[in-house]
Amino acid sequence: MELVIFLLLVSVAQVSSLTPCPKCGSMEVPYPLSTDDSCGDPRYKVYCKNGGLEFLSAGGTYYEVLSIDPSADKLIISPPMIQNNTCYSSDLSVGGLSLDENLPFNISTHNTVILLNCSNNILLSPLNCSSNSFCRTYEDNAVEARGCRNTLCCHYLKDSAMTSHRIRIRVGGCTAYTSVVNIEPSNPVGSWNYGIELQWVRPS
Ligand SMILES: *[C@@H]1O[C@H](CO)[C@@H](O)[C@H](O)[C@H]1NC(C)=O
Ligand SMILES: *[C@@H]1O[C@H](CO)[C@@H](O)[C@H](O)[C@H]1NC(C)=O
Ligand SMILES: *[C@@H]1O[C@H](CO)[C@@H](O)[C@H](O)[C@H]1NC(C)=O
Ligand SMILES: *[C@@H]1O[C@H](CO)[C@@H](O)[C@H](O)[C@H]1NC(C)=O
Repeated sequence: MELVIFLLLVSVAQVSSLTPCPKCGSMEVPYPLSTDDSCGDPRYKVYCKNGGLEFLSAGGTYYEVLSIDPSADKLIISPPMIQNNTCYSSDLSVGGLSLDENLPFNISTHNTVILLNCSNNILLSPLNCSSNSFCRTYEDNAVEARGCRNTLCCHYLKDSAMTSHRIRIRVGGCTAYTSVVNIEPSNPVGSWNYGIELQWVRPS
């Protein structure tokens, strides 16, 4: 009897844990992403709010999920807004994007991060802040970066030599950022793929 109950519980647990979640608005929520304890894998939590899918950072900021590629274990979130008439990203108060290191997500190596309104002391770090950095093209052409024009800016490729759990900004460093997935420098700024690509560890 006990064995039967045990087996039943095990099979129920397996079935429910492998159930993909229902669509959020028009977006599919593929396994292992989980909008609810009854579906997906709860370690891969995302939030369905007002018909839009969102990712929660360790800093407590929600970022819109723009696309998901379950076969590559990847999703792309929207970079934060830059507030009008300033050069402040909306997540500046929490220091930019930070991911919980205990969760199975990290920032992939396909992101070119553009930092805006940097102070001079940032030049010491391994960033490209030259006059032909991609950040200049962005600052000069993107409407949302209007407030950042004529400030010191830099870019870097988020490669494996860096922490894959943070994009850091701060007052006295750089105060705004955006990110481009698989940047194509020769294409016009408006056609770049703006987003922050995250990767997840495939559930075992
Ligand atoms: C910022 O300005 C743009 C264009 O002028 C406008 O569409 C948008 O609503 C403004 N955003 C905020 C948060 O005020
Ligand atoms: C900075 O980036 C630009 C654009 O990719 C490149 O042409 C230039 O060589 C880079 N400069 C340095 C110092 O890496
Ligand atoms: C740029 O950052 C500094 C602090 O590092 C801040 O005082 C200044 O207001 C910012 N500039 C803009 C245009 O937001
Ligand atoms: C991010 O996670 C993926 C999947 O687990 C892993 O293959 C990759 O090495 C990690 N990237 C970094 C920079 O740590």
